[in-house]
Amino acid sequence: METILVTGGSGFIGTNFIKFVMENHPRWAVVNLDALTYAGNPENHRELERDDRYTFVQGNIADAGLLEKLFAAHRFSGVFHFAAETHVDRSITGPEVFLNTNIIGTFKLLEASLAHVRSVPDAPFRFLHVSTDEVYGSLGFKDPAFTETTPYDPSSPYSASKASSDHFVKAFHRTYGLDVVVTNCSNNYGPYQFPEKLIPLVILNILDNKPLPVYGKGENIRDWLYVKDHCDALVRVFLKGTSGGTYNIGGGEEKNNLAVVRAICDLVDKRTGRKSSSRELISYVQDRPGHDLRYAIDCAKAERSVGFKAQYSFEQALAATIDWYLDHMDWVRSVQTGAYRKWIETQYTTRGVK
Ligand code: NAD
Ligand code: TYD
Repeated sequence: METILVTGGSGFIGTNFIKFVMENHPRWAVVNLDALTYAGNPENHRELERDDRYTFVQGNIADAGLLEKLFAAHRFSGVFHFAAETHVDRSITGPEVFLNTNIIGTFKLLEASLAHVRSVPDAPFRFLHVSTDEVYGSLGFKDPAFTETTPYDPSSPYSASKASSDHFVKAFHRTYGLDVVVTNCSNNYGPYQFPEKLIPLVILNILDNKPLPVYGKGENIRDWLYVKDHCDALVRVFLKGTSGGTYNIGGGEEKNNLAVVRAICDLVDKRTGRKSSSRELISYVQDRPGHDLRYAIDCAKAERSVGFKAQYSFEQALAATIDWYLDHMDWVRSVQTGAYRKWIETQYTTRGVK
């Protein structure tokens, strides 16, 4: 049995990843280190409470003393680093925490990893850094998709902090020889996504009969990937990727925001038997400052070198995602705490309807 450290394992992708590992990789035990910010929910892993393969530690990735203890106790053979501040709009209203977690936190984790490798040089170890396509900046409608050699050009404090963390991960490889791989992934959707992000926000606003806020004209394009495909890609890159390598991961499903919102409206209406079309709730609001127009991922490298190809179509997985939210309203209500309501209130009343 090998033990892996998963940071941010109580957030959206980390939760799905731990479930994926528990099901598909029985030789891995998991230590989940999560600070439980507003985005982390320990209830997501309630079924693992008595599982010997799972340990939960509440703590901050920037806590060097805690990291030292965890590495000494568990002798991790790998780190899957998800923990981050992740919401672009929050990075615009309050960027500092993005630097503390995404840059300093990643740096502390790299230092702890390097100290560990130096103390047991013959033991296997790899650091997988989960990053985003947003580091590449914005594409025009006709530009070719991002490849692994597209220059970094981040627009938001979020993407700037992720870009910085990517550079540190690469620097630890080049300078100290730490075995790292970096994945730059497109927009994920699926179960357990916090309802501040577009897809769950729209699903839940329809159920609550609230306006569906579309920024600007709704023409911005994202390349959507079902979270289960992302989990599969991460394990493939961890097991088969070249040390020091970058791998772009995407779903090949480019959609503009208006098309996504309309698709959700139609699917939710069908599933709930709503009388009038929820498309009537669509409300155009003030655009996000520095809003990237388009992201598109060329993931030919991941397909060629680690055999990754997204298995889920957008239509199929969006329907499954909507079903999951409808069937887990207890989870939804539990994350819609006072802090959540306050964010939604400030975010959307200051934005104003156009
Ligand atoms: P999330 O916001 O849902 O979850 C983040 C998790 O990290 C939470 O559980 C939170 O409690 C934890 N966390 C935050 N700060 C921490 C700290 N200082 N110490 C320990 N834990 C901390 O995020 P997500 O959507 O699951 O994203 C996970 C990773 O994937 C991030 O690194 C993100 O940049 C990357 N990513 C996300 C997407 C996407 O579409 N969601 C796409 C590409 C890449
Ligand atoms: P989001 O889910 O925040 O992900 P990201 O900004 O990381 O791509 O947003 C996805 C797209 O949807 C993005 O172009 C912004 C837009 N958007 C809206 O139009 N309305 C909203 O209320 C939100 C949260 C996002």
